[in-house]
Amino acid sequence: MSKKLVAKPGEVEFAKGMEGVIARESTKSYVDGENGKLYYHGIPIEELAEHSTYEETFFLLLYDRLPTEPELAFFKERMVQYRDLPDDVYEFIARAARRFNSHPMAVLRTAVSMLALFDESAEEDSLPAHEREAIKITSKLATIVAAIGRARKGLEPVRPRSDLSHAANFLYMLFGEAPDPYYARVMDVILILHADHGCNASTFATIVVKSTLTDMHSSVVAGIGSLKGPLHGGANERVMKMLQEIGEPERAEAWVLRALERKQKIMGFGHRVYKTYDPRARILHDYAVEVTKRAGTEKYLKIAEAIEKVMVERLGQKGIFPNVDLYSGVVMASMGIDTALFTPIFAVARVAGWTAHALEQRIDNRLFRPRFVYVGPELEHWVPLEERKEPEQEPTPLKPLKKEL
Ligand code: SDX
Repeated sequence: MSKKLVAKPGEVEFAKGMEGVIARESTKSYVDGENGKLYYHGIPIEELAEHSTYEETFFLLLYDRLPTEPELAFFKERMVQYRDLPDDVYEFIARAARRFNSHPMAVLRTAVSMLALFDESAEEDSLPAHEREAIKITSKLATIVAAIGRARKGLEPVRPRSDLSHAANFLYMLFGEAPDPYYARVMDVILILHADHGCNASTFATIVVKSTLTDMHSSVVAGIGSLKGPLHGGANERVMKMLQEIGEPERAEAWVLRALERKQKIMGFGHRVYKTYDPRARILHDYAVEVTKRAGTEKYLKIAEAIEKVMVERLGQKGIFPNVDLYSGVVMASMGIDTALFTPIFAVARVAGWTAHALEQRIDNRLFRPRFVYVGPELEHWVPLEERKEPEQEPTPLKPLKKEL
């Protein structure tokens, strides 16, 4: 075994969680953590949030440029044509979301896997096929999540319309009626803000899987599995639960200080790259002011602002500031969206980035195959069963179950 990869624990320097490690070159987005800036192919997120649409942003991420007017019109038509789902997928969603009441991200993960079984070109390994799958999956994810949201309430799915934008159609399929244009715009901005974010955990998972030249569905399923985790996409749902638990703005400071004393991570704060405000949090905060006023839910905004105040006072000097999840939940809850759908909606947005990065990986691929520093025993021998004894101490925190005698 080559010496440098056999070591005693801690003997060899490496970046845990690959912190600061560069995975590949990319043209898709740049996260300036020191200055709290985010750019999609060089365009500041603030400009895209103000002027763009999710469809245009998806085009930008896929093709590394903004579309011309006819190109955007045709791209929107392509997304519209892929919106509907096979009946079997609707039926699965109804059974899974209703009978087992399983985690919506688990239902989403399985539904995307099922999509591949009904897609004749899912296994085709050509660039046009991968590009088509990227558009298909991105378009269908909104339909799947809307169907999950309705099935959790025992409601039949609402089939997609072709005359609404991606964001407006998502709200239509979720609530069963065409949305107020203001809320359609808010949803469009939420999708734009969450569409891509450099080499985050779920995008990294997507490109690692893609680098084996597997199909696009498998890559997206990997991204969904990663985004489901509370340290990543699952935080927005937990922020809302935190706000509901605190209940009143006046109770926020004491609640946060108690949690910090218990070394608890406060959801919606901190970031591996941002060491100042997440620019998306600023934009979502501004929308939260208007949306909570319209919905009469200002209390949640006040609680979130009170938490922000004490967190920045206490941990700002450590680079802990609000991230995208702090206000996104306040906005979505005020729009009547169930907390359980917050992370699936994050996926509805991020699938644009996942598929764009997967295509970038496919175009200029090198199989991801990093290495471990081996810190196990250098040489052991097999011991006959009759000579084995139970160890005084287990080598890992896992304890094999003993048969109840
Ligand atoms: C997203 O990567 C991306 O781009 C992700 C994302 C995207 O768009 O894809 O931006 C989306 O995932 C946003 C993050 C959502 N997650 C949360 O809000 C969960 C709460 N946040 C933390 O778990 C944490 O901040 C992470 C996971 C987001 C980042 O953690 P790191 O970089 O691994 O930092 P760390 O855990 O090593 O913390 C460093 C220090 C520690 O204190 P010390 O041990 O040094 O004393 O900061 C503290 C941590 O305890 N800290 C926090 C904290 N986050 C970090 N303390 C309290 N509350 C927090 N939220």
